[in-house]
Amino acid sequence: MSAKILLINGPNLNLLGTREPELYGGASLADIEEQVKAYFEESGMTCLCFQSNHEGAIIDFIQAEGPSAEHAIINAGALTHTSIGLRDAISGVRLRFIELHISNVYAREPFRHHSYLSDVAEGVIAGLGPQGYLTAAAHIAALIGE
Ligand code: DQA
Repeated sequence: MSAKILLINGPNLNLLGTREPELYGGASLADIEEQVKAYFEESGMTCLCFQSNHEGAIIDFIQAEGPSAEHAIINAGALTHTSIGLRDAISGVRLRFIELHISNVYAREPFRHHSYLSDVAEGVIAGLGPQGYLTAAAHIAALIGE
């Protein structure tokens, strides 16, 4: 069985490509998912992509797929700053993950500086634009290939 990696995107990330491109770049979520999936497949792994605007749907997905996943890349969008439930779901299934933000949240409004996920994440990537997803994928591939 090849290692299963989850790529999870939260609220409003379905709008990538048209949403505030000065902050989030011009790539669509479908473009990003395709690139990340291809990257993992080339490395002999499978990648399951999921996006939802609903906190409960993301928690359900993590409960269903997290236990059999090796690792995850999670851009929880605004839920990063608000959701103890999402944090508990991740911890509850012991899902190792990289917290990802396309924009540099630390250079933005103070309410984006706090994350409920960072201290249970393996690492945090912020501000590298859509390229950050591939940086996270490369890290995970290297880790699992070890
Ligand atoms: C984001 C940053 C969050 O603060 C914001 O709510 C998002 C996207 C990012 O990718 O930069 O929806 O996670």
